[in-house]
Amino acid sequence: MTFSRTPKIAPSILSADFAAFGQEIRAVEDQGADWIHVDVMDGHFVPNITFGAPACAAFRPHVKTVMDVHLMIAPVDSFIDDFAKAGADILTAHVEAGPHIHRTLQAIRAAGMRPGVALNPGTPIEAVAGVLDMVDLVLVMTVNPGFGGQKFIASQIDKIASLRAMIGDRPIHIEVDGGIDPDTAPRVVAAGADVLVAGSAVFRGGSLAAPDVYGRNIAAIRKAAQGAAG
Ligand code: DX5
Ligand code: ZN
Repeated sequence: MTFSRTPKIAPSILSADFAAFGQEIRAVEDQGADWIHVDVMDGHFVPNITFGAPACAAFRPHVKTVMDVHLMIAPVDSFIDDFAKAGADILTAHVEAGPHIHRTLQAIRAAGMRPGVALNPGTPIEAVAGVLDMVDLVLVMTVNPGFGGQKFIASQIDKIASLRAMIGDRPIHIEVDGGIDPDTAPRVVAAGADVLVAGSAVFRGGSLAAPDVYGRNIAAIRKAAQGAAG
């Protein structure tokens, strides 16, 4: 896959119908999704539980684009091979999830996936300075992880801009996650983000019976983002 900073929309299936993940994934891809974002939560690193590697394996045949798996779990390392077998393309671990993020990112790459590293809103970008050359993606959380539908934390915009400067010419995506909609998308893109995760703002008002709403929601975020892209 060639690297590009053109804004990409990654619907989070955390906001999909949990009884119909396969159909929901196909619906948002048909409606223009660039990547599919999969939020794995363990009830320990974050105060919510979603699903694990067996569920990701079941999603895989339905994903034609990129299966972007965001781990909100601790520990991480003992599960990496399970997510590789499940077919994750990108596997992102939080820098706060343990003392050995370097080892974790090495193991993700060795298992054949593209590594990402995530930062909670309270974590400064210096926490990833030592591992930037190991990753394909840095995920900046724009809410505290755990739930969809939370309010965007505006202080993260300056952080995105500082991270963008730190990354320089390196082919590393900046992904943002939490409270992204047509109002916040241009602000994060102007600061340097290029992968926009959106749950509520994609699935809001739509359903498998009315998937064109997903398409309109995705198009609205994309249009707002493109207007701000440098
Ligand atoms: C939060 C998750 C997000 C979440 C975003 O912990 O990582 O991916 O689904 O949801 P919205 O777009 O509704 O803020
Ligand atoms: Zn996420």
